[in-house]
Amino acid sequence: MYFDRSNGFPKDFLWGSASAAYQIEGAWNEDGKGPSNWDQFVRIPGKTFKATTGDKAVDHYHRYKEDVALMAEMGLKTYRFSISWPRIIPDGNGEINEKGLQFYDDLINELVKYGIVPMVTVYHWDMPQALEEQYHGWESRRIVDDFVRYAKVLFERYSDRVKHWIIMNEQNVFTGLGWNAGMHPPGKVDDQKMFYQVNHHAFMAHAKSVIALKEICPDAKVGSSFAYTPSYAFDRKPENAMAKMDYDDLNNFYWMDMYAYGRYPRAAAAYLKSKDLTPVMEDGDEDILRKAAGLIDFMGVNYYQSCVVEHNPIDGVGTTHEMNTTGKKGTAKVQGVPGLYKNPANEFLPTTDWDWTIDPMGLRMCCRQITSRYDLPIVISENGLGAFDKFEDGEIHDPYRIDYLKHHIEELKKACDDGCRVLAYCTWSYTDLLSWLNGYQKRYGFVYVDREEDENSGTLNRYKKDSYYWYKHVIETNGEEL
Ligand code: BG6
Repeated sequence: MYFDRSNGFPKDFLWGSASAAYQIEGAWNEDGKGPSNWDQFVRIPGKTFKATTGDKAVDHYHRYKEDVALMAEMGLKTYRFSISWPRIIPDGNGEINEKGLQFYDDLINELVKYGIVPMVTVYHWDMPQALEEQYHGWESRRIVDDFVRYAKVLFERYSDRVKHWIIMNEQNVFTGLGWNAGMHPPGKVDDQKMFYQVNHHAFMAHAKSVIALKEICPDAKVGSSFAYTPSYAFDRKPENAMAKMDYDDLNNFYWMDMYAYGRYPRAAAAYLKSKDLTPVMEDGDEDILRKAAGLIDFMGVNYYQSCVVEHNPIDGVGTTHEMNTTGKKGTAKVQGVPGLYKNPANEFLPTTDWDWTIDPMGLRMCCRQITSRYDLPIVISENGLGAFDKFEDGEIHDPYRIDYLKHHIEELKKACDDGCRVLAYCTWSYTDLLSWLNGYQKRYGFVYVDREEDENSGTLNRYKKDSYYWYKHVIETNGEEL
């Protein structure tokens, strides 16, 4: 047998759950924290569902001990969370805020106290707003040095206790929604040229941070998390198979090849050149990117859905820059790139209320693709179901979430049996939290938080959902009983 198919999850498998600072912490202007690009963006009318903000979020900043105690009771092996850059360096490149550092010290110590492995994301989208004002943030090459300085502050302070680091969260998403779709800060629409330039800066920030971490803490494990949407060709028509190749090169391998090989896919680079979209690089960048690629320990994968790819004629559909942010099923529209591809719905698969395709086998495919193409270990850094939950007499029955996670874990187990080296599985999310554009009604957590869109609503009290008890058992049995 080529693969040993009888192994299941490794003994030291890290069963985890994840969050991001802006989505849970609140305390947006406390203890010296500076404003972030998101603090500013959510205040622009029409940008978020019912104008929700992360000002208070689910108040994790003040309730982290309660949240960690619930994790410990569940038996969580790892907790992935992000650090807020403007809490550490309020204006992005000036003074360091000791109170900000202290908060994460306390959180990390609390996790370590219970034997929960901290997995830290350096950047989950909240950039100091001052950098936007100084030089337009990611648009300027200047951000690379400021980012690396920030990252080094974290490595020096925490790497005695934190051995698992994720540098970037979903670079493809924050740049795509920020410079193409106008839905994330800085809200630019169809600025393709800048989109690729911004990505180059982010790749350099990732690469230089990886190199710095390995100098400061050689035994740390590091990677970045990519929002991986694997694709199916619409049918066996060669032009649709070709469209799938274009889609993968431009939407998946463009990021993963850079993290793993330190170079862009040749066909994507050729396409960019033909459209005059090639980013400006400095002498030496290629060496740095290649060096960092040789140092990463895993590919981080955030998996939510797969997609279908069909050839799209030059006069075909474009992108409407719309998303279902209301939870009214069936409102999403087919979008595409004229001359290349479009992404019709998959009639063989169900969808969530926000029209995200539910495809557990897609998770196994992600693992297989990464294993074949990069032969790297894998951290599933996010996977989960956003749903409306009902709170009834202190109980939350969420069989749909259990069903979703169960089927994904089954497929992940098959991926392990296929020979993929999967190190960790983090659900999204631990507690309910702010969904960037969809408010608080789109819930992902094992722990229900009593709050609605209105800032003054709810007690913020925590309640265990049925899925909380279910995942506890999954962890106890190392994924054998689902
Ligand atoms: C990922 C992000 O894109 O998906 C998370 O890393 C996000 O921060 C999650 O919350 C779910 O997306 P959404 O839009 O449903 O909140």
